[in-house]
Amino acid sequence: MNDLAGKHLVLGLSGGIACYKAAELCRALVKAGATVQVVMSQAAEQFITPVTMQALSGRSVFTSQWDNRPSAGVDNQMPHINLSREADAIVIAPASADFMAKLLHGRADDLLSLMCLARPLERVPLIVAPAMNREMWAHPATQRNVAQLRADGTHVLGVGQGEQACGETGDGRMLEPEELLDEIVSFFSPKPLAGRRVLISAGPTWEALDPVRGLTNRSSGKMGFAIAQAARRAGAEVDLVAGPVALPTPRGVRRVDVSSALDMQAAVQAMAEQADVFVAAAAVADWRPASVAEHKIKKDGSGQVPALQWVENPDILAGVAASERASRGDLFCVGFAAESQDVLAHAQAKRVRKGVPLVVGNLGPETFGRDDNALILVDEHGSTELPRASKGDLARQLVADIARRITLK
Ligand code: C5P
Repeated sequence: MNDLAGKHLVLGLSGGIACYKAAELCRALVKAGATVQVVMSQAAEQFITPVTMQALSGRSVFTSQWDNRPSAGVDNQMPHINLSREADAIVIAPASADFMAKLLHGRADDLLSLMCLARPLERVPLIVAPAMNREMWAHPATQRNVAQLRADGTHVLGVGQGEQACGETGDGRMLEPEELLDEIVSFFSPKPLAGRRVLISAGPTWEALDPVRGLTNRSSGKMGFAIAQAARRAGAEVDLVAGPVALPTPRGVRRVDVSSALDMQAAVQAMAEQADVFVAAAAVADWRPASVAEHKIKKDGSGQVPALQWVENPDILAGVAASERASRGDLFCVGFAAESQDVLAHAQAKRVRKGVPLVVGNLGPETFGRDDNALILVDEHGSTELPRASKGDLARQLVADIARRITLK
């Protein structure tokens, strides 16, 4: 995914054992489409070599303010000036306690601190990912420094909690590279949904027949989870009601796991009271067994198959769309239509039947379980196609579209 395409980042390493994670972070940033210029402090070089970072970033690493090689294409022996001038942000990962103290006081006795001080303040944001022992993190001096760095406009990421290299357990770990990548992508994302609350249903439902069997479908939940992540990155508070899926919770998203359509309905209805947007991406089972057997239904050897009775599940989306808040226009409802043919016609009919302003159509067999998809957005005026792309990309486009619609209202 090219979430950072076109971005140029200076990745600064100060000294700490978390430097080994900076290698993975560098790789993740490059994979996400960014160009990365690494700058290391002398202390960082004790933990990881510039050769490693050079290989991963594909660029020469700078470690000294006295380095007289051309930097950022300029031959003036001033890497502390040149390196930040082309950057969209400076990311310090790991940021040691000592380095943060230096930043705070505007000290500039090595290339990394000098470069941070000399950056154009309005144009080049500074993002730090602290990493240190829990006592160091909890120390009033560090907490004071972090608060002041924030007040100075620095973006502080984390910290994580858990086992530390020293053997102690607590706060102070650097966030994992994947988490840092997510935070950095979020940092650059426009925030059209700031202050809004978005509720998303995702995945299949499981309609139990007995303790071991049930009716479900092939929905993976990937599209709904991608929408949750995109909505979060767009600044929304996000509640995700997930059927049984094996997917990690997107960062910053509140998740409630449910099993049956009735469970999903109860969770959705409760949370819809506070939501500004409801996106029903779940593939809810249309029917459930009329009764659930207490014990496993056994073959009795007679060759008779059990006579199963089914009842229809409630339509969660239609119910929410008919609520007072949605009718008043305070809750914008979006449905999904997974079809096997005639997507446009079916999606339009579904939109009218469910009473929602927007339905997102897609071809079921060409999306279930896959990482890419193609969408068609259907509203009262007509339709717009979002061509085949990754579900992450499509989710971002869909969320931007929803944000436009609720802002125009
Ligand atoms: O009727 P159909 O299942 O094709 O409609 C799909 C849309 O309706 C999706 O947005 C789905 O989440 C929602 N839905 C629902 N409750 C149901 C069935 C579908 O919320 N019982």
